[in-house]
Amino acid sequence: MTPTTDAATAAAPAKPAAAPLTAKVARLVAASLKRVPETFRPVDYPDALDTHRLIMPEAYVSLYHHPVYRTLTDEQKWRLGLLETVNFYSINIHGERALIVGLEERLYKNRVAWESNQVCEYLQHFVHEENAHTFMLAGYCNRYYGRVMPDLGLAFEQIRLSRIGDDLLFYGRLYVLEMWLAYLNGVAMLDTTLDETTRTVHHIHHQDEAKHLAFDKEVLHAATDEARARGLDEELRTVAAALAAYRTYALGRLYNPAVYRAIGIRDASRVAAEASGVAERRALEATWMAQCDAQLHKLGLRGSPPAAAGHGTGR
Ligand SMILES: [Fe+2]
Ligand SMILES: [Fe+2]
Repeated sequence: MTPTTDAATAAAPAKPAAAPLTAKVARLVAASLKRVPETFRPVDYPDALDTHRLIMPEAYVSLYHHPVYRTLTDEQKWRLGLLETVNFYSINIHGERALIVGLEERLYKNRVAWESNQVCEYLQHFVHEENAHTFMLAGYCNRYYGRVMPDLGLAFEQIRLSRIGDDLLFYGRLYVLEMWLAYLNGVAMLDTTLDETTRTVHHIHHQDEAKHLAFDKEVLHAATDEARARGLDEELRTVAAALAAYRTYALGRLYNPAVYRAIGIRDASRVAAEASGVAERRALEATWMAQCDAQLHKLGLRGSPPAAAGHGTGR
């Protein structure tokens, strides 16, 4: 029996991975094999965090540039730093849960260069490492806050695209999320004024994220080249706009009225809206995302979010 075109296509081996992707993946697999931290006991959590040291790098506390910050007691400031760290880790957890689902869906497909068997091997390290991160972060949230904060929707929402466009959107969001979280991990792990346990958690997360980001970048290069070769310019623009909206959304989640309410700030929703609009804070956000923005620009994936997509709205 003659196989159908679809079946024949499905059975065909993937095109060989682009040379830079192949070389990068080989190095990343080796790095992952070399550094296998204890998955389920990465950190020896003490019973309590150090109350004499801040939990969040102070300049990065979402209210640091808002006038209300000067009215807070030291105890409220400490608590705000803790709750913002739990908020940040909770966003990490929900974002990484969603990306694990997306990575799992891309295993064993072998249709394009970034799905080759070799890449698939790395994806399994990736899934394993993200699972270990969410376990570590949830351990922190549960011990020092009592729970992981709820998922407010930082998920990978569906937009109808071709397969290549869909991969671009997935890996683009992955790149934005990981750049966003890796930046604060990098700042916090180097801040010697912070509680040591919190710094350790940031440090462990940062080590794996450096590998993930290198991988994301290579896949985005390969996938944008492929999209251009196939004339998918309209999809590239759609993806660029969706990534801009996702970036705005991720940053917006840092202003959590529930956190403000919990430390006794009145009119928390108004304060959240004001805090994200303070000029110094907007400048800090621009610095936070500068490398990510530059890379997306280089790839031709730096778009503007739709007018309605301000802080707190996603797409
Ligand atoms: Fe992670
Ligand atoms: Fe990651």
